[in-house]
This record gives sequence, C-alpha cells and structure tokens, in this order.
Amino acid sequence: MSDELGSVLRRFERQPAGASVEPMTPDHERVLRSMMARFATGVTVVAARQGPLLAGMTANAIASISINPPLMMASIGQRSETHAAITSSHSFAVSVLAADQRRLADCFAQATTAAKLQRFCDAPWHEGETGSPILDGAIAYFDCRLVARHPGGDHSIFVGEIVAAGFDEAAEPLIWYGSRYRQLSAEDPG
Ligand SMILES: Cc1cc2nc3c(=O)[nH]c(=O)nc-3n(C[C@H](O)[C@H](O)[C@H](O)COP(=O)(O)O)c2cc1C
Repeated sequence: MSDELGSVLRRFERQPAGASVEPMTPDHERVLRSMMARFATGVTVVAARQGPLLAGMTANAIASISINPPLMMASIGQRSETHAAITSSHSFAVSVLAADQRRLADCFAQATTAAKLQRFCDAPWHEGETGSPILDGAIAYFDCRLVARHPGGDHSIFVGEIVAAGFDEAAEPLIWYGSRYRQLSAEDPG
C-alpha cells in the first residue's frame, strides 16, 4: 500500500470515543469514491416534476426499505435540480435502466442546464400516478409519494411510498461497477 493511500485510509479507521476526526480532503474523497465503487449496483433515473418541466438524475443510491408498507429510498444530492423537484412535487419515480439505455444514463448524469430541464434528455416517458415521469423501456419502475426526508450529509434521504410499480422480467439491466457501466455476462454458476 502506498504511504499516501495508507494515510488516507487511516482517516476511516475506528477512532477512540471523543477523538477528533480528521476533515475530509480531496484525497480522502477520491479514495472513498473508489472504495464505494467496489459495490456493484444497477443504474436508475430518479425523476420528478419541476412545475411545467421535468428533472431527472442518474442514481444508484436507491434501496428497498420495506415491503409492507411498500417503501423505498433515494439518496439525492442537495444541490441537484432533482432534489428541488422532489421537494416541491412531493413525489418521485425511479426507473431502472435496461442495458441498452446507456445513453440516458450518461445524459441524466450531466449537471443541469436549461436544455437538460427542457428536453429531459429527449427520453421517451409517460406520466405515473403521482405525476412523476417514468422512462419508457425501463426494466422496472417505482412511482413514489414522498413520505419522509432525512438528512444525509450533503444528500437528503427521500423515503417514498410506492403507489404504482411494474417490471419487464425478460429485459437485461445496466450495471455500474468500478466507476463504469457494464452488462451482466454470466449466470450464477451455482
Ligand atoms: C452511475 C451514477 C450514479 C449516481 N448516483 C447518484 C445518486 O444516487 N445520488 C445523487 O445525488 N447523485 C448521483 N449521481 C450523480 C448525478 O447523476 C449528477 O449529479 C447529476 O448531474 C444530477 O443532475 P440534476 O442536477 O439535473 O438533478 C450518480 C451518477 C452516476 C454516473
């Protein structure tokens, strides 16, 4: 292990109670991101109405919380346009991207511009029960009514009650691992 990496990793070692924790530096952030990148996930677009416009972002920090009642969460950066849209519309939709929707993953990961807001990445979509936009061609979707918002550092953890959902069992997912997109290549050999 390099000295630089070693010193960065010590930032994350268990600290005795009451010890002051070193502040995060850009090196800490880079190393933490590359450790987090070892967690393989699917890729979604979390989207919501922003008045007459639509806001959406590529997101993988989503999870199922509860089956009964049906709840899920999305951790959304506070400075993003999608955060503002979820907060004002009190709803959001999660569209799970198919392997052939890589272009949409790239577009929705770009920072907001007027064009992104007005054109919604030229994505074909339809309106869910909550009014939130659901991407056509997604392998699953969850249309959620916002029921709670918890602080999560520079993100907010939005909890949604799933009011409508659907899926396409045959479709292949887009995967995010090691900071790049991938596709499933093999069945579990058992
Ligand atoms: C694979 C991938 C996953 C991401 N996951 C999240 C996430 O879960 N939450 C988040 O706030 N940003 C996430 N981002 C970053 C947002 O997509 C990015 O900040 C986007 O520009 C926000 O758009 P907006 O400001 O139009 O809402 C992710 C980016 C990529 C490429």
